[in-house]
Parts: sequence; C-alpha cells; structure tokens
Amino acid sequence: MKICTSIAEARAASRQIRAERKRLGLVPTMGALHAGHLSLVRAAKARCAAVVVSIFVNPTQFGPKEDFAKYPRPFESDCAVLEKEGADMIFAPTADEMYAKGEITWVTVEGPSEKLDGRSRPGHFRGVTTVVAKLFHGIEPEVAFFGQKDAAQLAVIRRMVRDLNFPVEIVSCPIVREPDGLAMSSRNAYLSPKERCSALVLNRSLQEVEKAFRGGERDARALVQSGRAVLAQEPEVRLDYFEIVDPETLDPLAAASGKSLVAVAAYVGSTRLIDNVVLESRG
Ligand code: PAJ
Repeated sequence: MKICTSIAEARAASRQIRAERKRLGLVPTMGALHAGHLSLVRAAKARCAAVVVSIFVNPTQFGPKEDFAKYPRPFESDCAVLEKEGADMIFAPTADEMYAKGEITWVTVEGPSEKLDGRSRPGHFRGVTTVVAKLFHGIEPEVAFFGQKDAAQLAVIRRMVRDLNFPVEIVSCPIVREPDGLAMSSRNAYLSPKERCSALVLNRSLQEVEKAFRGGERDARALVQSGRAVLAQEPEVRLDYFEIVDPETLDPLAAASGKSLVAVAAYVGSTRLIDNVVLESRG
C-alpha cells in the first residue's frame, strides 16, 4: 500500500493506475476510521480494481469554535486498518500541501449549502465541496464513495458533480450503526458513557417517525412532532434541527411523499451528532 503526502505524488500514482486501465475508486475521509468508513472501502473494493483512501482533517470545513484541534488523528492505526482492507493507496496531505498560501478560490454549491448542517455551520459545506473538488482533481477517480450518514453532504456533493461536470460517479453507502443503533461517527469518541447512552435518542426519534409514517401519517409537521417528542425526553440532548426535506435539494417538504429525508442534528453535551432516515412511499 502506497502512502502519498504530496498532490504531485498522488496524481502520478493514480495516473499510473489508470494507465494500467484499472478502474479507480476514491474514498474521502478525515481518518479516525471506524466500520462506517470501512464499509465505503469495501464497497469501493467491490466495484473498482484500485482504491485510494484520502485522510485529511480539512480545516476549512470547521468553524472557529468547532473541534478541528481535538479531532482524533490516529494515523498509524488508520494505515494498518487500510492495509488489512487491501486499499492500494492512502493520500494524506498536510494542510499546507492542500491549501496554497493566500488561496482565495472556493467551490460553493449555493442553496443546499445553507440548509440543514449548512445553516448551523456557516461555511461548512463550502469547505467540504472545495476540498472534495481538490481531491477529485488530484486523484482523478472514476468513482467516489460517500456515506448516507452525512445525507446533506451527499446532496451537496452530487450537485457539485452535476453542475461542474466532474467525470466522477458518486456512490452512496448505507449508514453503519453500532449494535444498539447509534450511527457510527468519529465524534462518538468524545461522548462520556452517560452521554453515549443519551445519544441513542437520535436513532430512537427517527424510528418513531418511521413508525408514524408506516402507520399512514404523511403530514411533515406531525411526523417531525413525533420525533421531537422523543428527543425531548432526554434533557441532556439539545436539538439543533429536526426536518423532513427533499433528499436532493434539501428543501423542506410539507408532506412525506416519494422519497423524503428525515434528518436530525443534536448536541449531546458539547458533541454535535447527526443521523437520518429516508422514508419511501410505495407507488
Ligand atoms: P468523515 O466524517 O471522515 O467521513 C468520511 C466518509 O465516511 C463520509 O462519506 C461519511 O458519510 C462516511 N461515514 C461516516 N460515518 C458513517 C457511517 N456510520 N456509515 C456510513 N458511512 C459513514 O465526511 C467527511 O469525513 C468529510 O466531510 C470529507 C467528505 C472527507 C471531506 O473532508
């Protein structure tokens, strides 16, 4: 497994892979890998002859008061895990390598970038789309893999790829959960045992919405209300948003018809967690 830290080196290596006519898949990550990330690597292995995993804690997607400094960076163990998974290459640049001094160019997907997490984290999606565009330019993958866990991120990236004609297929992978239902996240490591227990309410609230939906409820306000009522039972959990939106535009829906994304974000102590479920009406 090759480890590249410079863009030039990574580009040369990935061009070499493509020269061998191998289909190249990219899995962008910020490291601190867990089973959710590994499901993306496995999906990439299943579809591509060569798999590149990027590990880069991207400073531009963190707000000034967010957890950039304390974000876990267990690089050695991430490398060992990826070696075992059969990744072909890790791209792990420094921030100085990724961002030239005085850089003033951004990739912004207007509209969806201001919805859901974008509303609570101003500038977050601009940082995500800019770094993902850079990764696509540097690695030139044919396919890139993203988790449904970050449903708003997925929508924003799909829109960027569409609008900027990136020749990259975007594959989304289902949310991987702990046995008790908590969506896996590198940020779960911040939770105390008590908070870890409270955090289960996010998934429970989504299940409640799903139950109401299966029972025939379609009114978005009523569905959201059923989820919020469950969340309110955990006083340690502070709601950021609970919304039912179109999974592509992230615009709020009045009624759950066709495909609807139910998305929740909440603070458990000082840790911000997100989760979601997609409701689908048959017929
Ligand atoms: P990170 O949070 O490390 O996540 C990397 C990828 O793993 C994302 O596509 C995310 O949706 C996916 N993922 C995380 N937890 C998951 C889970 N429980 N189940 C399935 N997939 C999961 O998302 C980012 O990094 C960054 O914003 C990035 C795209 C790398 C740009 O910096």
